[in-house]
Amino acid sequence: MSSENAPSNLHVVDGPLSRHKLAVLRDEGTPTQEFRQAMRELTLIMVAEATRNMPTRTARIQTPLTGTEVEEISGPVCLVPVLRAGLGMLDGALALLPTATVGFMGLFRDEETAQPVEYYVNLPSNLEEYLVLVLDPMLATGGSLSATLNKLKDEGAAWISCLHAVAATPGVERVTSEHPDVNFYAAAVDPELNDSAFIVPGLGDAGDRLYGTL
Ligand code: PRP
Repeated sequence: MSSENAPSNLHVVDGPLSRHKLAVLRDEGTPTQEFRQAMRELTLIMVAEATRNMPTRTARIQTPLTGTEVEEISGPVCLVPVLRAGLGMLDGALALLPTATVGFMGLFRDEETAQPVEYYVNLPSNLEEYLVLVLDPMLATGGSLSATLNKLKDEGAAWISCLHAVAATPGVERVTSEHPDVNFYAAAVDPELNDSAFIVPGLGDAGDRLYGTL
């Protein structure tokens, strides 16, 4: 996907540090422990980027020298990892947003059809009050993310951004057009999917690599 025809709600986080972390993640020789660590570190970078457009409010505080106005993030934050692989980004996101609430979307892709199957959902009841960050290392066909976003919106979520280590062009095209009100952050956009709907070149199955279930 060239930058000229990239959707305006897609943001590629591709500075040297995130490229370096992604190189570690892509390498099939990276062992589980280093893969987890690189995913956590990439998430730190991506959360810093994906919070740049969060709404803020002004507060009046006292520094040791004088009273002054400061800015704070205006709402509570809800992190929503998409199980399982999204859990690999949760620790890094909580490091920067330690007071965040955490909701869970349990989905897996049917290996035959590549369609998402929902098996566990646990979200805060007052989701409309939250700024929601969805965490999932992989955006392939976009089926899992589309199901997640529809569920979050049904539950009232109004401000949503999504963080991915790797996205594929077909999935990006789908979710950015279906959800123009949502912002999508990826460290890379890979061009294609193989016959099994895996991202190519990608980084393999992120859940299996995070949890050693290869
Ligand atoms: C992977 C990935 C996404 C989804 C992406 O999960 O973590 O949730 O597939 O594919 P899609 O865009 O085509 O829907 P997977 O089904 O492998 O489950 P896991 O995280 O439990 O391993």
